[in-house]
Amino acid sequence: MNTSKFIEANQQRFLDELFDLLRIPSISTDSNYKEAVHKAGEFIAEKLKEAGADNVEIFETKGNPIAYGEKIIDKSLPTILVYGHYDVQPPDPLDLWTTPPFEPTIRDEKIYARGACDDKGQMFSHLKAFEAMMQTNTLPCNVKFLIEGEEEIGSPNLLPFVRENIEKLKADVVLISDTSMVANDCPSITVGTRGIAAAEIELTGPNRDLHSGTYGGAVGNPLNVLSKMMASLHDENKHITIPGFYDNVEELSQAERAEMAKRPFSLKAYENYLEIGSVQGEEGFSTIERASIRPTLDLNGMWGGYLGEGTKTVLPSKAYAKITMRLVPNQKPERIMELFKKHIENIAPDSVKVKVTLGHGAPPAVTPTDSIAYQAAAKAMEATFGKKPIPTRMGGSIPIVALFEYEMGIKTVLMGFGLNEDAIHSPNESYGLFNYFKGIETIPYYYQYFTELSK
Ligand code: BES
Ligand code: MN
Ligand code: MN
Repeated sequence: MNTSKFIEANQQRFLDELFDLLRIPSISTDSNYKEAVHKAGEFIAEKLKEAGADNVEIFETKGNPIAYGEKIIDKSLPTILVYGHYDVQPPDPLDLWTTPPFEPTIRDEKIYARGACDDKGQMFSHLKAFEAMMQTNTLPCNVKFLIEGEEEIGSPNLLPFVRENIEKLKADVVLISDTSMVANDCPSITVGTRGIAAAEIELTGPNRDLHSGTYGGAVGNPLNVLSKMMASLHDENKHITIPGFYDNVEELSQAERAEMAKRPFSLKAYENYLEIGSVQGEEGFSTIERASIRPTLDLNGMWGGYLGEGTKTVLPSKAYAKITMRLVPNQKPERIMELFKKHIENIAPDSVKVKVTLGHGAPPAVTPTDSIAYQAAAKAMEATFGKKPIPTRMGGSIPIVALFEYEMGIKTVLMGFGLNEDAIHSPNESYGLFNYFKGIETIPYYYQYFTELSK
């Protein structure tokens, strides 16, 4: 039987197994789900074994386990390192889900579940493609699987694991499906992800919550102060005002920008889809550019004072904010975090004490289109979609990608099969049946073309 016949004959089982994985609530951000996270790690290890991987192991870390497996058929052949993550984002707000997040359901040819697209569905298609190659004796090269459970929290324990296991993980290319395409009839390959830098701010005003009638107007209100400080981080052209923030930021050539502008995109459809009056963003850049090649700063949460029902006339003692910045090539997360901290301390008035806590950071990454790694992906997608894919830069981050490049000297190919409509991290996340099976069908072609082009 050839590979595609095998895939066809096993469609229902491939779907059932993915559903089993989707039922496990492996939420890495919430320590209440530790058991489920471990269960998902073990599930992956089990499936790697069943698919025919050797040396399958679960590596315990200070946090969540890493599942590993490999198939080395001939040391003189190239090796593909497949990376993916089995952890998911919290499903909140729960009441906005049409069907429960951990009870996968098919509607309109799509699988609805938290993690359906990000990244369980996409990652699992690699295990099934591998199984298909093993069962049909068509695996053309060596493969190593590295599937982690902390991607959604910045991969804190995978980073040291990779550093300590450089020999074990040695490969010629890293292959990841954890990004999206432009559309099902417009296949694309991600050639850039943004980096990230996270921080939290705590402002303290008076030593306790005060009556806002007795003290209001006379004492600095940390929430008022914080909102003003936060508003000042962008100027009227939506440039970020932190001194030095744009130093070294990569500027794309006019030719590169013209190439990006060719990508099919309707601003009206984008605004309608999000139900917003109009888009906004940095002056001088298109929406696609703002969301991919330009750095950003966003408040992810801001709170303090009274948040219960009704009103309470309080002048709060404390105010808090969580912030992330997206970084582009040549911006270093450590430096950006330092600049951020210094700036926040500088602009805080005397009426408050300020504490800035720096969080996780990851550098941006780009893949050159003239590499064998990219060319193999382009050929593979062309074979199964019947259309040459276009290269795109994405706004999201995958923390480990830069490390594979800097610490191991291996480039990553982001051959993702998701769509923006899949609503990852949002309620009603979905993944098309078309996309799940297209992934399984395309991956063996990648192995074949990468092996051929490496000769
Ligand atoms: N799969 C996403 C990254 C992504 C999303 C790439 C959309 C391209 C398009 C990944 O799981 C993710 O959500 N990453 C986080 C990383 C963060 C928590 C360190 C992100 O980008 O916010
Ligand atoms: Mn992901
Ligand atoms: Mn994610």
